[in-house]
Amino acid sequence: MKNILIIGSTGQIGSELAMKLRSIYGGSNVVAGYIPGAEPKGELAESGPMEVVDITNAQQIADVVKKYNVDTIYNLAALLSAVAENKPLLAWHIGIDGLLNVLEVARENKCAVFTPSSIGSFGPNAPKDGTPQDTIQQPRTMYGVTKVSGELLSNYYALKFGVDTRSVRFPGLISYVTPPGGGTTDYAVDIYYSAVKGEKFICPIKAGTFMDMMYMPDALRAAIEIMEADPTKLRHRNSFNIASMSFDPEVIYASIKKYIPTFEMEYQVDALRQGIADSWPNKLDDTCARMEWGWNPEYDLDSMTRDMLDKLSKRLK
Ligand code: SER
Repeated sequence: MKNILIIGSTGQIGSELAMKLRSIYGGSNVVAGYIPGAEPKGELAESGPMEVVDITNAQQIADVVKKYNVDTIYNLAALLSAVAENKPLLAWHIGIDGLLNVLEVARENKCAVFTPSSIGSFGPNAPKDGTPQDTIQQPRTMYGVTKVSGELLSNYYALKFGVDTRSVRFPGLISYVTPPGGGTTDYAVDIYYSAVKGEKFICPIKAGTFMDMMYMPDALRAAIEIMEADPTKLRHRNSFNIASMSFDPEVIYASIKKYIPTFEMEYQVDALRQGIADSWPNKLDDTCARMEWGWNPEYDLDSMTRDMLDKLSKRLK
């Protein structure tokens, strides 16, 4: 990777990935793509170039790729799962029509492409525990439908046209920087904000609902390491299961309570999110990622909780 374009650079993943990529590859070599209304601010705006890149506008993507001689595109434009259920056509337009634009530009300009998939690419008939790398993927959500279709489309472009597409299936991502918007796993971010603000947390997901989660520093490393991996070692491309921790609301609550004993939580289950969560795996098997490109997470629940509480209490002061 020499010249990188991030589409969706001000979102939950993009805002942190952009800064991390700039620290490794140089500020001027990483273009922060954004849509009007979501302009980069602060450090992100000051540390390198930024351009309007709407994923639904193929010409805009092509122009920026040519202008900066881009060789790698991080395609991070997407609606999260709960929002996508309410706006299914827009979710498809961004997730699939948008991806097709990216893949065509990549084919014409010989770019590598990273497009995240998700635990949401599985449905209720996939094995729940130790969900294998290669198994049945029949999601019931529009988010999942776009993720599976995106995996297939990306593999097709690799096989048919030799486009270097690679991807990981992200778990719920937890970070203290940019909040997620409208995902099913968002509760695992919100709970830390309530804890640090000294508020009772109202949990929208039922006790006993286990989902894969990951701390953002591990997720960023995964996104970079997969694109830097030796292609001769990759048997899979789109998309690798990755995992680091799996918990339900009771487990994360107990992990926070260890450090903030007065913290309280009560349940008010959100039917939409609960339905989505119930259709997703409890815990993925990430053996292939470990074997094929050395995936190895650093954070577990306890080390993440300590870091989240520490960083958030400084930010919210
Ligand atoms: N975090 C995503 C969501 O909840 C899952 O990949 O929508």
